[in-house]
Amino acid sequence: MSDLRSIVRGVGGYLPDRIVTNDELAKTIDTSDEWIQQRVGIKQRHIAAEGEFTSDLAVHAARRALDNARLSPDDIDLIIVGTTTPDYTYPATATLVQNKLGMHHGFAFDIQAVCSGFVYAMVTADSYLKNGMAKRALVIGAETNSRILDWTDRTTCVLFGDGAGAVVVELGGDGERGILASSLRSDGHFWDKLYVDGGPSTTQTVGHVHMEGKEVFRHAVGKITDVVENVLSRTGYTVKDLDWFVPHQANLRIIQGAGEKLHIPPEKVIVTVDRHANTSAASVPLALTEAVTDGRIKRGDLVMIEAMGGGFTWGASLIRW
Ligand code: UT7
Repeated sequence: MSDLRSIVRGVGGYLPDRIVTNDELAKTIDTSDEWIQQRVGIKQRHIAAEGEFTSDLAVHAARRALDNARLSPDDIDLIIVGTTTPDYTYPATATLVQNKLGMHHGFAFDIQAVCSGFVYAMVTADSYLKNGMAKRALVIGAETNSRILDWTDRTTCVLFGDGAGAVVVELGGDGERGILASSLRSDGHFWDKLYVDGGPSTTQTVGHVHMEGKEVFRHAVGKITDVVENVLSRTGYTVKDLDWFVPHQANLRIIQGAGEKLHIPPEKVIVTVDRHANTSAASVPLALTEAVTDGRIKRGDLVMIEAMGGGFTWGASLIRW
């Protein structure tokens, strides 16, 4: 293992053109803009067009991240896609992305950790880079959640959106920048608190999202704060040292709850859930892309990313940008 770290070279995001507001949803299901904003903090979500697949969203985000890094697909030798809404049961969406980028070299695979997919993918890329298995990775979170929602179920369909975010990560630097520490957790005991009731081996159907929202909510803040504190404790940094907190965007009340419990001031918390809704594995890289693009996250900043979702899975990474 070298002392070099995995440095983020570029970021990119993509949201489908079509925006669906809460008011639009309220025309077909028994809900209201007021309820959704008050309980979850969502105003709108983006929905993929017919014939627009997870791999398409991922490729848009990947190309933007490569542009941002001033690199081309030739410079990449590993693609990891965090997704829970793959184009096909197999092959991995990452191989479809590899093909659409015109790459015939390197290797590509998916990670299935639901909303924690991007954090899991970052940690996996970090390990592969450090082990010398790859030199430069595209780490993508991409989802077409709209395809697995029951659009008549108001308890779930108002919560999610489609989108993709990508980062280019490479090994290098002077030892100060890069991924400093990470922590991943799961507990399958909670598998049926948030799951999709279909699959090749069970029903041979795709299925729809089912969630015991209150149960997920009850666990979210505690699990998020545990893993963030665990990462900090292994680096010597404290919450006060953080420049930015980039949480998974599931519910504004969960984000605020975690921020308060960790004593992170709201102005250091990146929030996109109001406009993107919960884009599952895409939410953290989309939030990173927004904050880097608008100049909030700058080189040298200390950034904590975290996510929690179905499985349950959860995790966090501390990155010196
Ligand atoms: O990425 C990780 C995965 N997801 C999450 O982290 C989500 C975690 N959970 C949550 O964010 C919240 O639990 C929800 C937003 C899903 C629900 O909020 P809540 O405050 O826990 O509401 P609730 O489920 O207790 O429902 C309260 C009421 C119920 O009506 P009654 O039984 O009190 O008459 C629901 O039927 O609100 C009703 N309700 C709605 N009303 C209007 C549920 N969904 C809606 C809706 N519009 N869309």
